[in-house]
Amino acid sequence: MKLAQVLFSQGFGARRECEGLIAAGLVRVGGQVVDDPAVDVPTEGLQFEVEGKAWTYHEKALVLLHKPAGYECSQKPSAWPSVLSLLPAPLRKRGVQPIGRLDQDTTGALLLTDDGTLIHKLTSPKHHVPKVYEATTADPVTPGQVSALLKGVVLHDDPLPVRAAAAQALGERHLQLVLTEGKYHQVKRMVAAVGNRVEQLHRSAFGALALPADLGPGQWRWIPDPGVIFGTR
Ligand code: URA
Repeated sequence: MKLAQVLFSQGFGARRECEGLIAAGLVRVGGQVVDDPAVDVPTEGLQFEVEGKAWTYHEKALVLLHKPAGYECSQKPSAWPSVLSLLPAPLRKRGVQPIGRLDQDTTGALLLTDDGTLIHKLTSPKHHVPKVYEATTADPVTPGQVSALLKGVVLHDDPLPVRAAAAQALGERHLQLVLTEGKYHQVKRMVAAVGNRVEQLHRSAFGALALPADLGPGQWRWIPDPGVIFGTR
């Protein structure tokens, strides 16, 4: 692939801007400045630098962000900054978007990608990808609440009951829930429906991918392969 096309595909701006960066000697491949935008480079495992910042070629972008509280998942946030502002400009420019949404005050594992097919797969109810939530509740979690969540509760905008794939009290006010759908405010509404209230909510895993302990709030990292989420890798 031509070097200018590589930069363009990775989100470094319009084609002209990418050609300009290369011609200005701001791009290195294998540690050497390459100033010819038309030079062909193999993309497999390609590492390059743009204005001193190291980058690795990814045909599709897939990243895991530890979402902090106080950020919105929408593209055009109203009251809070967007989670996209926590990612470097090339990722935003290539159009990554959150896979599903977390509320402004929810923390934890949020995946973002520019792969539309993957977004569809991971958000489609057909695929039943489990998401693990840790809720801190206002009142102690009772065995009756846990069994009601497992049996299924009716939410006001939906005639069919929704049930947790798994639910357990891990502490007096610590409820762990596994959900395979992603309805609006689902955890908060399910917990409210059984007579308790979520005070804090954290997503600790998305599919087979657990939020790593060394990924702090606001930090992100590349996920090399969607198989990590489906548990096939
Ligand atoms: N359920 C909620 O209520 N909020 C979230 O952010 C995610 C799941």
